Amino acid sequence: MKNPLAPAWLEEHDLNELDLKIWPRTAKRNAAGEIEIGSVGARELIRRHGSPLYVVDQEDFESRLMHTKRAFSDAAQRQGTSAKLYYASKALLTADVVRWVGQAGLSIDVSTGGELAVALAAGMPGERIGLHGNNKSLVEIGRAVSASVAAIVIDSEMEIERIASVATAQGKIQAVRLRVNSGVHAHTHEYLATAREDQKFGIALSDVPDLVAKIRSHSNLRFLGLHSHIGSQIFVVDGFVAAAERLLDVHAELLKTGDVPELNLGGGFGISYTNADRPMPIAEMAERICAAVAAKCKALGIPVPKLAFEPGRTIAGPAGVTLYTVGTIKDVVVSDQGAGAVRKYVSVDGGMSDNARPALYEAEYSASIASRTSNATAALSRVVGKHCESGDIVVRHEYLPSDIAANDLLAVPATGAYCFSLSSNYNFLTRPGVVAVKGGVTKVLVRAETEQDLLARDLGLSESMRD
Ligand SMILES: Cc1ncc(COP(=O)(O)O)c(C=O)c1O
Repeated sequence: MKNPLAPAWLEEHDLNELDLKIWPRTAKRNAAGEIEIGSVGARELIRRHGSPLYVVDQEDFESRLMHTKRAFSDAAQRQGTSAKLYYASKALLTADVVRWVGQAGLSIDVSTGGELAVALAAGMPGERIGLHGNNKSLVEIGRAVSASVAAIVIDSEMEIERIASVATAQGKIQAVRLRVNSGVHAHTHEYLATAREDQKFGIALSDVPDLVAKIRSHSNLRFLGLHSHIGSQIFVVDGFVAAAERLLDVHAELLKTGDVPELNLGGGFGISYTNADRPMPIAEMAERICAAVAAKCKALGIPVPKLAFEPGRTIAGPAGVTLYTVGTIKDVVVSDQGAGAVRKYVSVDGGMSDNARPALYEAEYSASIASRTSNATAALSRVVGKHCESGDIVVRHEYLPSDIAANDLLAVPATGAYCFSLSSNYNFLTRPGVVAVKGGVTKVLVRAETEQDLLARDLGLSESMRD
């Protein structure tokens, strides 16, 4: 009899198998039954770098960079245009990640001065950086202009003057895009097209002509085109097509009064977090978007613009796995849910501070014991962290072997995007390190925090207590 607490989408599955739809490409179980990534075993990783630990399959990350770039470039080429890819660094940003992005020939999208600083410090040329943000400071704009970034995305009317004044002061001409709120909001498998969305990003389509005229009136701003980002973790193409068509109607109007060389359709392409997720493969997504753009341009009688995209999650997400050590375990009987309503609560040594997505977005994940295989029966489980919050959930619904025990290592796949980036020190937990594994070699990308790091910033402690 199915446990009444199990959601309909959760299928019973082989608890030792690693479904490559969710796990990084080099993940496998070795002869001892332990999970290896990049030919390095989970136990060895934890022994050397501590627990919990973010592990990035470098080969997987690099191949996703190449695959995504090729998918969009080929699709654009088939429609007689080109596609420039900006990796959305908010998904996962470290100096080595910037280098991988650079080596794969992609540009990078940053949305704060901090992200810009990392990209520049790691050697990404300004000409391959795009700057976003709805509230860029003059200092951030100044740094971007002096680095000659490829584009600054204008998010409000106020920013036109701000960027123009900084460019004037520096004696430069700055390329800009205008972020438009297309009224299309997409999430996973659905999208809504509303008259005007109630959210902070972008400007209304109806305001575009006036604002573009303003941009064009500044001799030190160069207008590249419109920008749209409709949401995240999107499984179907319809929302992208609807947004592109809405933008192209305005784009065609703007062509009557000047150049509009590009169109940037943002990121948001979905990935599988559980085996119930079925996102459209990225190559098909690219093909369908580029074809829809070309068809709309043909209908409008305008040339197909150069395209730009900003994928983050689809590159970084599936390449990452978080390793935890299991601590306390308890079976909770939920008496008002009928016979057999029991959930195994498996506590790990991290939680919402290393993965905020379940608490923020009710995101689902999956998990597997990493240090061994098991032939025990499946127990409906919930993986929880060690924070003082009942919403501190890492994996809401998963079957785990009923013999799971303290000190087992647990691996949670698809944590490469928006986990390290969103990590915090809540409850004064130290943030885990980030390591890359490839061909049996481990490289520490970001070292794990120590308690000393936490104490060092508290000036209420004497210096001797702080170090
Ligand atoms: C403007 C913009 N571009 C790109 C992205 C990347 O989205 P994803 O990682 O879902 O591809 C985001 C994410 O929030 C964004 O806000």
